[in-house]
Amino acid sequence: MTKQALRLGVAGLGTVGGGLVRLLATHRDRLALRIGRPIEITAVCARDPNKDRGLGNALGSATWYADPVAMAADPAVDVMVELIGGETVAKAAVEAALSKGKPVVTANKALLAHHGVALSRMAEAAGVALNFEAAVAGGIPVVKALREGLSGNRIEAVYGILNGTSNYILTDMAARGASFESVLAEAQALGYAEADPSFDVDGIDAAHKLTLLASLAFGVAVDFDSVPVEGIRGVSAQDIAFARELGFRIKLVGIARMTGEGLDIRVHPVMVAEGSALAHVDGVFNGVVVQGDFVDQMVFEGRGAGAGPTASAVMADIVDIALGLKLPLFGVPTETLVPAKVAPVTARVGACYLRLSVVDRPGVIADIAAILRDERVSIESLLQRGRAPGEAVPVVIVTHEVAEAAMVAALTRIGNLPSVLEPPTMIRIEEIKRA
Ligand code: NDP
Ligand code: HSE
Repeated sequence: MTKQALRLGVAGLGTVGGGLVRLLATHRDRLALRIGRPIEITAVCARDPNKDRGLGNALGSATWYADPVAMAADPAVDVMVELIGGETVAKAAVEAALSKGKPVVTANKALLAHHGVALSRMAEAAGVALNFEAAVAGGIPVVKALREGLSGNRIEAVYGILNGTSNYILTDMAARGASFESVLAEAQALGYAEADPSFDVDGIDAAHKLTLLASLAFGVAVDFDSVPVEGIRGVSAQDIAFARELGFRIKLVGIARMTGEGLDIRVHPVMVAEGSALAHVDGVFNGVVVQGDFVDQMVFEGRGAGAGPTASAVMADIVDIALGLKLPLFGVPTETLVPAKVAPVTARVGACYLRLSVVDRPGVIADIAAILRDERVSIESLLQRGRAPGEAVPVVIVTHEVAEAAMVAALTRIGNLPSVLEPPTMIRIEEIKRA
């Protein structure tokens, strides 16, 4: 093969960057066959030049840079691969590459959730691709699915488990009764977590990804700060056990759907029925459900984080660039993106799980039931465990479909009852149908 190689500059040699280097070393010939020319890493960038990255001599004679902006200007770099993360250095590096007319591949959902529209404009002006398959759901090619495979549909909804770390934590808490902190430490050691793991456990990372999916699915520009987000810190082992007993699993789910009230977009823990599409997406796996008007429901499942799956998605983007595929970032020209009107979360109507810690004495349930009656919240089932006269016992209530505003009003009043000892726990029950 005598053709000029496609020359990559890889900024970031951590979990994902290291995975990409290994993938290229493993599949160099296979990839060259596919794109008709070799792929070479001609420049790399990271903070610490002395760190042992376990890459042997896979980097060959690549030029080392401490500054990714300088790397972007290297004439021996055709494609910039941004795997640093964050919104400062990474943004400068991506902008530097685009301003030089170089295509970019990034795994950085934080960057795109906040600056995607501006960067999309820059890429369009430069006439180059800005690809981000790895930014959403790790190895699952869901960006490609929405941007290409499902382009014949009006997308009605897209939702799913979008954060591997929090799913890993919830799964292990359920399976082994492990503590939140110990499982988070495992997920960090496995390279799943963000540099700041609060992004994972507080739902921010899932919301970054959901924002990107919503733009792809509905052709809208989403103001990230308007997305309601709640993480998994409030999910207790007790709730996980009650969920099991009631035939549910607790998952951190991102939901985006177009409604009469606007874009219903939110991330929070939900209870999903045992038989539903997402109930058994466990561990580091992600599951994404797309509902299209002609295709009906599609379910995508695969590893949502980690070196191998993420590098797989990064390489798919590089191959697309090598093959000359150049699509608008969000599937439609940037100027046609419509600012999303985000529906308030109080517009939700759905069933809820409530857990209350109450004093075990006659009349307590009657007081709670009276408030639920007044606020027009209908009870589907109620269970009380244990018997400890005068002491705290848990009471669990599952409601029928209820307007969120009514539920919130009822919970405020219930929380103020002297016999209710802790702020009530509320987890929404989402009816996510079997595929
Ligand atoms: P890591 O922390 O493992 O790696 C980050 C790399 O960037 C390191 O090599 C680091 O250098 C380098 N770096 C950090 N700051 C600078 C800087 N100022 N200048 C130059 N280099 C810098 O992160 P990940 O590989 O986990 O994540 C990278 C990106 O991929 C993020 O955007 C993340 O959100 C995304 N992502 C991660 C996934 C995962 O499973 N980990 C999955 C999907 C997306 P050094 O090594 O010297 O410290
Ligand atoms: N921290 C992210 C997760 C990495 O756990 O899903 C993949 O985007």
